[in-house]
Amino acid sequence: MQIHSSIPELRSALQQQRRRIAFVPTMGNLHAGHIALMQEARAHGDTVVASVFVNRLQFGPNDDFDRYPRTFEADCEKLLNAGVDLLFAPGENELYPEPQEYHVEPPASQNQLDGTFRPGHFRGVATVVLKLFNIVQPQVALFGKKDYQQLMVLRNMTRQLALPIEIVGSETVRAADGLALSSRNGYLSPGERAEAPRLHRLLQRIATAVATGDADFAGLETDAAAELDRNGWRTDYVALRRQADLQPPRGADDRPLVVLAASRLGNARLIDNIEIAACGGR
Ligand code: PAJ
Repeated sequence: MQIHSSIPELRSALQQQRRRIAFVPTMGNLHAGHIALMQEARAHGDTVVASVFVNRLQFGPNDDFDRYPRTFEADCEKLLNAGVDLLFAPGENELYPEPQEYHVEPPASQNQLDGTFRPGHFRGVATVVLKLFNIVQPQVALFGKKDYQQLMVLRNMTRQLALPIEIVGSETVRAADGLALSSRNGYLSPGERAEAPRLHRLLQRIATAVATGDADFAGLETDAAAELDRNGWRTDYVALRRQADLQPPRGADDRPLVVLAASRLGNARLIDNIEIAACGGR
């Protein structure tokens, strides 16, 4: 595996590849969810390129940029074992040698869900991903469905800006107890870690209820948020939305739906979601 931290070096290494490039951007501290993306990338391209960069632009002033786990040596070993061909791991001065004053601003329709609770987050994500796309120039890029709204923002950006890149969404990888793998799970104490799978259980319960005919969406959302908060969480949202555009459904037949949630447990803000099959029936 080649490792490059400079843009010109990466570009000249990639020029020698001249094959279909599959790209997986990450912020490092890699777990099995990231590695599944790398393995899936292999099926989509001849050259698999990963990036590791903790992107300051997408963190708010009270977010966890400073304490975000940085585990570069271990990450390199995992990427090597996953068969990644090239790793791009720029320092902050390489990607942002001057203040980043040009941004990709996602539309107002994305100022909802995580867009409400993390102002500027998707602008930071879209900006760095466009920049990484311009550096790597992949034919295909892979993102996890765990960050469902992020995947939608990046899909829409790619389509509306006519980027010649195929966006692939990959299934969420979970621990045996259902908790979606996340670098932020490391912030949980042992007691909180035992509590954390409640989030996925509640989403599953809602998905089953909706698939079997429950149409009281507001009631399902409120009950789930209340149950989380009774158990020590601080919930940002539990929301049933249309898969197509993440807008609230207009009626019980406005499907397929996805149920998404974000809630804080101790020092960790956890997000998760479940897609609900289009025609679950009784
Ligand atoms: P990061 O949180 O490191 O995630 C990198 C990629 O891994 C994202 O596409 C994310 O959705 C995916 N991923 C994370 N946990 C997953 C899981 N349990 N199962 C499947 N996929 C999972 O997302 C980012 O970094 C950044 O916002 C980034 C896109 C790199 C821009 O800075």
